[in-house]
Amino acid sequence: MSKNLFGSAIQVFDSPDAASQYVASIVAETIDSRKEMLQPLVVGLATGSTMKNIYSHLVKKKEEGLSFSNVKSFNLDEYYPIERDNPQSFYDYMHRYLFNKIDINRQNIHLLSGAAPAGEVDCLAYEKAITDNGGIDIQLLGIGRNGHIAFNEPGSPFDSLTRFIQLDSQTREDAIAEFGGLANVPRKAITMGIKTIMKARRIILVAFGKQKSPALFKAFFGPLTKEVPASILQLHPNITIVVDEDCAEGLNQQRAEGIHLLKL
Ligand code: GLP
Repeated sequence: MSKNLFGSAIQVFDSPDAASQYVASIVAETIDSRKEMLQPLVVGLATGSTMKNIYSHLVKKKEEGLSFSNVKSFNLDEYYPIERDNPQSFYDYMHRYLFNKIDINRQNIHLLSGAAPAGEVDCLAYEKAITDNGGIDIQLLGIGRNGHIAFNEPGSPFDSLTRFIQLDSQTREDAIAEFGGLANVPRKAITMGIKTIMKARRIILVAFGKQKSPALFKAFFGPLTKEVPASILQLHPNITIVVDEDCAEGLNQQRAEGIHLLKL
């Protein structure tokens, strides 16, 4: 059961699983609605723990007959440097949780390369590939505890494009468990820019748990500021925000504490 929060575009679900199922069904319906068309559907994909169950629901849809043969994908970001076969790489993550389990054409998968020498990573070519493929139709997004989207850390210009970025200390700390120690967490990443993300025709932002509420609250009910990169999403014309009960409770708490409230 979903309900709206603060009469806004925020959809609240009883559990992360119910929310994940909902997000997967939006993506699946969009893919299905395009199946007879010549123009493939271009999906922007995210990583992180929030997305894992969404992908497992998409895999279920595939098992139930959904085909991904008319889908092209562009991933948001990748650590740098990182080998493809490193289990922490987003390359490995995407193949493990999604690509190896669906019938997407390998040539239609686009991932930023964390393994190439820096001089060979062509960020502008990534931008061009997105544009040449007609732009992103539907973009999945998570949010970092510091308000980042993809790896656009606080301070990222709103007009930024795909580029290298220095990771924030909080972002690196959040990755300690996965990498087995801070020293193993890469200091850099390659990320789609904020402008790249904003060009997507539809965005679905997903956040689970109370730990995400402060960032989400600042993003959607605070001022537009580079210090909270996700705040730019207030200006996106077609965004759906999907949260679970815990995250919604945290948002309500922030509001009860009288923290700066804006519209959505
Ligand atoms: C990483 C990714 C983001 C993601 C964020 C949240 O920093 N680059 O795209 O949104 O983590 O991850 P999680 O879902 O694990 O909380």
